[in-house]
Amino acid sequence: MSVLKIREYPDPILRQKSKPVEKWEKDLHKLIDDMMDTLNAVPGLGLTAVQIGVPVSLFIYDENLSGEGPSRNYYVLINPEIVSQEGEIKGEEGCLSIPYYRDTVVRSSVVRVKGFNREGGGVDITAEGLLARVFQHEIDHINGVLFIDRLSSLKRGLFLRKMRKRERQLNAEFSGRV
Ligand code: NI
Repeated sequence: MSVLKIREYPDPILRQKSKPVEKWEKDLHKLIDDMMDTLNAVPGLGLTAVQIGVPVSLFIYDENLSGEGPSRNYYVLINPEIVSQEGEIKGEEGCLSIPYYRDTVVRSSVVRVKGFNREGGGVDITAEGLLARVFQHEIDHINGVLFIDRLSSLKRGLFLRKMRKRERQLNAEFSGRV
């Protein structure tokens, strides 16, 4: 098991649409274990495989929604699909692939998601509140969509300014390291 590097925007892999899992093999279990190790090392509620550079359709999430510490309890959803959704709710969101920016995103308040578990069994979960938000955020990743895509153009401009500032800072740090 190992902690892997989380890909950050604007890494083009984050725009790839993930492929469905077809075989429940050893590689799949290793991927899930590595993702759990990786998420354990950072504060976050969920992680999609594409975020560690593997564009296959699965994500893990902290079922206790604690985000850090020993109360975390990870579950995996493989080939997840939203089969129904209702309501609308605003809430603050962040992303491990965009660690320097958070903003308010409108999501469905309730979602029903179907998929598969680690053993290949069918899963059918109706989620609301923060869990519903996590599911929608992670399923967006599987489709190559990021939460910044769901912002108004004004907010997106704000995000881009922050991103450029961060890039300048990182470049300055790098050139100072001789
Ligand atoms: Ni994310």
